Amino acid sequence: MRLLQEPPPPGNRMTLPAMTTPHVVLGLETSCDETAAAVVRRGPDGAVEVLSSVIASQIAAHAPFGGVVPEIAARAHVESIDVIAAEAMREAGLGFDQLTGVAATAGPGLVGGVMVGLSFGKAIALARGLPLVAVNHLEGHAVSARLAGEVAYPFLLLLVSGGHCQLLAVEGVGACRRLGSTLDDAAGEAFDKIAKTLGLPYPGGPALEALAEGGDATRFQLPRMLLGRKDCDFSFSGLKTAAARLAETLSTEAERRDLAAAVQTAIATQLAERSDRAMIAYAAQHLGLGLRFVVAGGVAANRAVRATLQATARARGFSFTAPPLAYCTDNAAMIALAGAERLALGMFDPLDAPARPRWPLDAAAADANPIHVPGRKGAKA
Ligand code: KG4
Ligand code: ZN
Repeated sequence: MRLLQEPPPPGNRMTLPAMTTPHVVLGLETSCDETAAAVVRRGPDGAVEVLSSVIASQIAAHAPFGGVVPEIAARAHVESIDVIAAEAMREAGLGFDQLTGVAATAGPGLVGGVMVGLSFGKAIALARGLPLVAVNHLEGHAVSARLAGEVAYPFLLLLVSGGHCQLLAVEGVGACRRLGSTLDDAAGEAFDKIAKTLGLPYPGGPALEALAEGGDATRFQLPRMLLGRKDCDFSFSGLKTAAARLAETLSTEAERRDLAAAVQTAIATQLAERSDRAMIAYAAQHLGLGLRFVVAGGVAANRAVRATLQATARARGFSFTAPPLAYCTDNAAMIALAGAERLALGMFDPLDAPARPRWPLDAAAADANPIHVPGRKGAKA
């Protein structure tokens, strides 16, 4: 066991000498409605092995309310985090003394839940003398495609989840530049809200995808938001309103199927159009560096979205990578890997690292253009 020599000072991130041995990291994720723990090994050559990934979903607890209730989520995390972490260690077949670090989501997210996982991670780090990495949940999504295979830096990332919809140039570990963001809802939020108007259960994205199967996407005309705009921003509010109006007029199951298919196509098309714009800008800034496009986040689990983005990437000469389905939605393996990548660079955090409800990946862009005002669109916006 390696002991920290001195108590870490508050404030800035700290650095350890970079190591050439593998990192074996316990990751903890509690920022929304999944309590998750995972153990990931990352070799000095960057090879990644997921030794365990355990996820306890709270969907059943939130379903009666049609969305995540922060207080219920925080309490459920408290009740299960120790059991889930112990299960992840058991599945990995490791003792705590075989870990080289602990990584916990420190934000952005529902702060009550974030505090549970972060505090638990700090306790393990303190008790076992391990370095703690306070991971940005979005950085976790950003590295999630690397859980299944090498994706070299830099790459263009479309991050599409329930709380986020952004295009980012990811230049390296912790080095992101935002190219575009949503003006209103996140793509997953749009899926969830439109699914609700179609009478589908929470979470709406997967339910809407299932309903859309075999539907005729051309039967209903939906607005194509921001079409032709030169920037890389997104907007889903017009689509949401139009879909809600149409949903009220439907009488048959076939019509519901067709509207679900039209909505799915409209969202996929907008994501692809905005990504196409970003690809043009990114390619001009990354001459000779290889053109890689990665999609991550819960909405990346949608097959129509993946297929549309893949075709767009191919047409622009970009490689296309999406995480395996299990690593699209929230999980702790991506948090463990984000932590391991930082540890490999000798970076870790003090034990008083704060839980942060809002934590943009590109702080400069978010401050210059605060499309999302904290608290207005929910804790993760
Ligand atoms: O990444 P995630 O698990 O949590 C956040 O960080 O937000 O993403 C959850 C979101 C939800 O809005 C959910 O409806 C959406 O991802 N989602 C999907 C699918 N699976 C999950 N949306 C469309 N199609 C899917 N198959
Ligand atoms: Zn997420």
